[in-house]
Parts: sequence; C-alpha cells; structure tokens
Amino acid sequence: MIIKQKIMRNVSLTAHPTGCAAYVQEQLDYLKSQPLPANKDSYPKRVLVIGGSTGYGLASRMVAAVVGGAASINVSFEREPAENKVATPGWYNTVAFEREAKKMGLYAQSIFGDAFSTGIKEQTAALVKQHLGQVDLIVYSLASPMRIDPVTGQQYKSVLKPIGKTYTALSVDVPTGIVETAVIEPAEGTQVEETVKVMGGEDWQLWIEFLFGQGLLAKGFKTVAYSYIGPEITFPVYREGTIGKAKEHLERTAGELTRNMSIIDGEAYVSVNKALVTRASAVIPVVPLYIALLYKVMKEMGLHEECTRQIHRLFTDRLYRGSSVPVDVEGRIRLDDWEMRPDVQAEVDRRWAMQKEGSPMVGGDLDGFKEEYDHIHGFGYASVDYSVDVDPREV
Ligand SMILES: NC(=O)c1ccc[n+]([C@@H]2O[C@H](COP(=O)([O-])OP(=O)(O)OC[C@H]3O[C@@H](n4cnc5c(N)ncnc54)[C@H](O)[C@@H]3O)[C@@H](O)[C@H]2O)c1
Repeated sequence: MIIKQKIMRNVSLTAHPTGCAAYVQEQLDYLKSQPLPANKDSYPKRVLVIGGSTGYGLASRMVAAVVGGAASINVSFEREPAENKVATPGWYNTVAFEREAKKMGLYAQSIFGDAFSTGIKEQTAALVKQHLGQVDLIVYSLASPMRIDPVTGQQYKSVLKPIGKTYTALSVDVPTGIVETAVIEPAEGTQVEETVKVMGGEDWQLWIEFLFGQGLLAKGFKTVAYSYIGPEITFPVYREGTIGKAKEHLERTAGELTRNMSIIDGEAYVSVNKALVTRASAVIPVVPLYIALLYKVMKEMGLHEECTRQIHRLFTDRLYRGSSVPVDVEGRIRLDDWEMRPDVQAEVDRRWAMQKEGSPMVGGDLDGFKEEYDHIHGFGYASVDYSVDVDPREV
C-alpha cells in the first residue's frame, strides 16, 4: 500500500516503515559519530527500558546500545501491522533498532503489552533471567493516558488540566500556524488522583520492587524516570496542574527507591528533561507554541537538542560521568538546564508577547516543530520515496 501521513487534531494516525527505519538510522549515525567516553566500560551492559519504542525511551535504548554496548529489553505498548494496516511508529522503530543492534552484536528484544500489568512484569522478569541474568539500568519512560490497577482491576485516566481554576493562554494551531486562545477547564472529581495513579511513581516502584524481589537487579544498579518542569507560562496546565502532581509523586518515589535499594547500592533518579516534540507532548495544549518559540531561540543560540542528544548528555555528563551524579537541591537531575537558562527564557517570553490571536505565529520555528513531528512518524525524509507501494508488515 502507499502510506500517506494522516493527522487528526495533532495526532498522526499513520507511520511509515521505511521512514521510521530512516529515523532510527539517523539517530544511530549521530551517536556513532560521537567520541566514545573513556570510561565506557563502566556503562551499563544490561538495560531494561520501559517505554523504549519512541521519544525519550527509544533514545535511552539507542544511547545505551551505541555508547555503552548494552544488551537491551524494551517493554512498550504498540500496534502491530496487518496486511492493509500500518503499525504504530514505535513498532517500526523497534524492529529497525533491533535489526541494527543485532548487526552490532548486541542482544535486543521487546515485549509488547501493558507495562502496568503484572503479567507483563512476569514475562519481562523471565526474559531478563534467561538472557541478561540481571539488569544494571532500568529506564522508566512511560507516557500513557490510562492505567488499569493490577490488583483491583480499576481503570484510571490521566488528564492534562489545571487545578482549581480555568487556564486561558495563547496556543498555536499547528497545521495553519495561526495563534489561537486555548481555554482549559480545571480538573474535576477524582482527575488529580487518577492522573497521579497513571503518571506518578506507583508503577515504577512496582517494577523495581518486583525485579528486586527476584534478585534481578545487579549491584550498583541505577534506575531513572523522566519528568518536566518548564516555564511559568505553562505552570497552571503543567507543573501546577494534574500532571505536575503526578511528576511530584514520581520525584518523591525516586528517594524511596534509593533508600529501599541500599543493600545493592542501588540509585534511583528522576531526570527533568527538556520540552521536545514527541507523540505525547504534541497533544498538550499551549505546548506547541512554547516548543516552536523555544526551538527557534535555542537553535539561534546553538543550544538545541532533540531526544537522542539530550539522552546522550544524560548518560555522559550525568549518570555515568565517572563521579557522583550531579543533582539539584531536590535530588533531581536537571537536563533542562539549557532550556531554563535565564537568557533563553527571557527571549522566549519576549517572543511570546509578540503573538496575536488570529494572526500567524511570529518568531518561532513551526517548520522545525512540524519536521520533527513528521520524522518521528517516519515522514518527511528526502531519502524515502513515499510514492512507492510498501508492505506495512515489512520495515
Ligand atoms: N516530550 C517531552 O517534552 C518530555 C519532557 C520531559 C519529560 N518527558 C517525560 O518523558 C517520558 C516519556 O515521554 P515521551 O515524550 O518520550 O513519550 P512517547 O509517547 O514518545 O513514549 C511513550 C512510551 O510509553 C509506551 N507506553 C505507553 N503506554 C504504555 C503501556 N500501558 N504499556 C507499555 N508501554 C506503554 C509507549 O509504547 C512509548 O514507548 C514521560 O514520562 C514524559 O512525561 C517528556
């Protein structure tokens, strides 16, 4: 079939197998072009990535493989292709990555299913036991709209809403580039607690305790989960909103996990990362306008990084730099240090003030936003002929 990009309300409904392979290859080529750290032998050799098929999780898996030579297992929730139906980008990315990893002589395997379930945890433990023995690093990188509690069977939904009052701010309609006003009503009923249930640290803790209990975490084990803070303009809908409560819970969980793993010198971290175009972030209201302005400013200042570059810096300058991991007063790794630089934020604020409702966005990099969004779905690559008939089951 000929696979064209179909986007509905900022969500791409299709992905291109050849294009996703091009995306993965581009990231691997970048990583291979970087000098290897002198202490690469102390990098983790057995890595589990929960949510390792797209975005920050995929980047973590690729960095671990190329820089540290790690064997890896990925657990993610993806739709497989059928004869006339495309798979999700994460499925294509995974197949492409694992093919390349095997060429590098590295073990790479995936389990597709619901990471929140006990069954998937058990399957993963069995795979770890059989092929890796133990793990040195677990990256927890889930972004999910819902979770079914493994014990009670109750379903929880996560929402991105302010708490207490309506949030009104400028946003941009990505297809047209026209600035509009986004109005988001506050969370109601149990939405705060439900979002914490889905995106907080509870499931991360269940994973770590489950594998720890089976003796599958190696001495000196590390685990990292990803968080976000962002600028004041998005505080009501992000950091002080429902998702912010979940991220606070995730951050508190890190401290508890570290204490519980002292017997194996285990360390748990939350890394506060930069705002980036991923499948999860593109659907957050206001975020596309902020990202478009931020990208332009950071590119002009020579500070721009996408997922792979960010995670490369996480491994080489933070987690495995060879001495203690630098953290802020709250114990968090700050990879958003460049994004939050006062000069970067002042310039984003200045450009934000230039926007007018109903007019085209000015001073931002909407083309860069769209290009990155296309790329993570395997579209927009000059090297790929999109008019060619492809079998959606073949990457
Ligand atoms: N994108 C950003 O700007 C940004 C910034 C800072 C932190 N973060 C955080 O990084 C983490 C990853 O986000 P992302 O933007 O890379 O998202 P993403 O949508 O690209 O990736 C999400 C991953 O989670 C997996 N997943 C979702 N539900 C699952 C389930 N039930 N079972 C198994 N796997 C499941 C998906 O398959 C995918 O691998 C999130 O915690 C997010 O809050 C993102």
